[in-house]
Amino acid sequence: MPYYSSLGQLPPKRHIQFRRPDGALYSEEVFGTEGFVGPTSTIYHIHPPTQVTGWKTLYSTKAEYVETDTMRMRHVKSAPMPPKGDPITGRVVLFGNADCEMSVCCPAEGMDYHYKNGQGDECLFIHFGSGTCYTQFGTLKFRKKDYIIIPKGTIYRLVFDEQPADEPDVKFLVIETCNHSHILPPPRYLSKKTSQFLEHAPYCERDLRGPELPLTFDEAGEFEVRIKARDCVHTYTYDYHPLDVVGWDGCYYPYCFNIDDFSPITGKHHMPPPTHQTFEAHNFVICSFCPRTLDWHPEAIPVPYNHSNLDSDEVLYYVEGDYKARKGIEVGSLTLHPQGIPHGPHPGTIEKSLGAEFTNELAVMCDTFRPLHPTKAALDLDDIAYPASWEGEHFPQTSGTHKADGSHKAGRNGTRSDSNAKKAKADTW
Ligand SMILES: [Fe+2]
Repeated sequence: MPYYSSLGQLPPKRHIQFRRPDGALYSEEVFGTEGFVGPTSTIYHIHPPTQVTGWKTLYSTKAEYVETDTMRMRHVKSAPMPPKGDPITGRVVLFGNADCEMSVCCPAEGMDYHYKNGQGDECLFIHFGSGTCYTQFGTLKFRKKDYIIIPKGTIYRLVFDEQPADEPDVKFLVIETCNHSHILPPPRYLSKKTSQFLEHAPYCERDLRGPELPLTFDEAGEFEVRIKARDCVHTYTYDYHPLDVVGWDGCYYPYCFNIDDFSPITGKHHMPPPTHQTFEAHNFVICSFCPRTLDWHPEAIPVPYNHSNLDSDEVLYYVEGDYKARKGIEVGSLTLHPQGIPHGPHPGTIEKSLGAEFTNELAVMCDTFRPLHPTKAALDLDDIAYPASWEGEHFPQTSGTHKADGSHKAGRNGTRSDSNAKKAKADTW
């Protein structure tokens, strides 16, 4: 995170003697990034964090991409994915490249170990579920529709609550960095002088939920910490509970942000995707498309214009809302629109959208600046008819008509003032 925080006990100065109640010294650990010139936290352990044994390599995590020389629109339906593994081993990579990996996880069991991603930051989006993320920086209580940002190197364990009978099974999306960059708020949202979130930012410090107590677990025994590094998961044994921290301070720690706390920026005419940006890392951005008032020009076209995002591949993960204007899209769908092909509204949806004042769609988007590739798991869930879903008559005869002088007469759906046309329509990019 860009701003300073602290939790627990701290000595008055860095790198001085700080003693436990029994007189022994606490073990200070500087948890630094970018060669100690990037965001850093200073952590105080009861026991030296260096006491690890029993290391061995468990399994490879290297994603195997297929059809890497094929560019086409894709629609992957994740709803049929069966539960498997735990919140780490159950992650199924669907798309990725050298900068990031996107996975969906429907865990079937809990974690009886702690985990550390030693090669990238993680952004978890909790689609269904709630629970507790125990970390070395403290405890994060998370709920449905939370983003959880877990910076590289953080030791953590995810414990999900039992889902109510009327709720879907636990499911979450994972976007993690593969290029050693960090997932942060866009710099333009922050003051250059103080890192304070500025007035034009769609969220601010009050929306971010940092780690809280309990922080310290002082237990002896054998504790497994699985560490992802070098595209493999390794197991290490700690002689003490790995979350034996009594205090920390700094600007490097995990936090939660609920997507419902994102305040959409709306306009008289269609607002572009950067207004929805939530986070970024090197070579990719994460955006939140949230329920919002639509464009209020009397002749506004509320759905997006056709667009070529020439430097980006776009992946959308559909969370909730009415997707009737998008053929075949359902909750849990992921679409990939590659940079080489324009995309936009499906046939007939432009006229149907006229007069709409509100959209209830909720989606998470990840735009990458280098081509994304699917995995075999993605192809197994791919709707191969999707690339042809733009074929057909876009402007039915009953729609608006153009006069000889070039002016336009509104069609059956009218303008925004038409009281029959005020229901929500699809608006996602
Ligand atoms: Fe798009």
